[in-house]
Amino acid sequence: MKVPIKQGVWKRLLEMDGEPISGQKLAEELGVSRTAIWKAVQTLQSEGFEIDSVKKSGYAIHAKPAFLTLEEMQQYRTSEQIGKYIHLYPSLTSTQVIAHEKAQHGALHGTVIVSEEQTAGRGRLQRKWDSGAGKGLWMTIILRPDIHVSRAPQLTLIAAVAVVKGIEDVTGVQAQIKWPNDVLINGKKCTGILTELQADVDRVQAVLLGIGINVLHDKEDFPEELKDIATSLKMESGEAVNRAKLAATIWNYLEKYSDLYLEQGFEPIRLLWESYSTSIGQQIIARTAREVIEGRAKGITKDGVLLVEDSTGKIHEIYSADIEL
Ligand code: BTN
Repeated sequence: MKVPIKQGVWKRLLEMDGEPISGQKLAEELGVSRTAIWKAVQTLQSEGFEIDSVKKSGYAIHAKPAFLTLEEMQQYRTSEQIGKYIHLYPSLTSTQVIAHEKAQHGALHGTVIVSEEQTAGRGRLQRKWDSGAGKGLWMTIILRPDIHVSRAPQLTLIAAVAVVKGIEDVTGVQAQIKWPNDVLINGKKCTGILTELQADVDRVQAVLLGIGINVLHDKEDFPEELKDIATSLKMESGEAVNRAKLAATIWNYLEKYSDLYLEQGFEPIRLLWESYSTSIGQQIIARTAREVIEGRAKGITKDGVLLVEDSTGKIHEIYSADIEL
């Protein structure tokens, strides 16, 4: 993968962690001219990166930007396609809305839309998703797998596994999945996933995986009605979490698991998903649009349908519901 000069410069400055590095050395390492390095530094500075020019010794990072940058996200990405094209916005209505437009205009597999803030963030079941500025990771990933529409829900489950793995890698915190795709830590929700589709009669054109993660929130950042049921990675790990690293780590896992899924089918994903699930084996209450079912969650089918056994031994297939544990 050829790294653009600007990204290469930023990566080296981050590695130097505040110590200066000369323009000459950067030029040699990146195999470009000193003028190209100087231009890249100018561009980075104009984009808000605080880089000092230290007399005679070169360039050094003054402070890491608090906002998300393309360079930092790319620095942690090892995936081939997911995250190769990133559209980063300071504020928009919803990354889902922009992703729909981009997908209709031919955006490639793996394109990601990220925003610091959403003014009309969307949740499942027509709910609103609280998406304050600079606190979370609000992103939609456009995937174009060549699969039948009936298999699309499985991608949500793959995304949930990728999020849990990403959170674990970056923060050391063990998250769990509550069917169908809420990610919880210590029983409180830190991530929601909303999957939307563009499809022909039977083939998927694009899957829009909307992922919202509460990352840097303190308790007072949540609206009153969420204070007791929502949490953030910072609240759970006790540390500020690098959102760029988290985003890229999730893309890396998402690519790994969707490749595995396309090669070996859903079974390995189902096993992983169940190993992270809070609901399986538990007594639960499932509130569907039509009825309330109480029973033990037995597992998920290959289509991601939840199986619940009630007290008479009858197995119910749950396609969409709110779950109470
Ligand atoms: C849920 O209800 O649990 C799903 C929430 C999904 C929120 C994410 S944030 C990024 C993307 N853009 C949106 O408007 N929604 C999803």
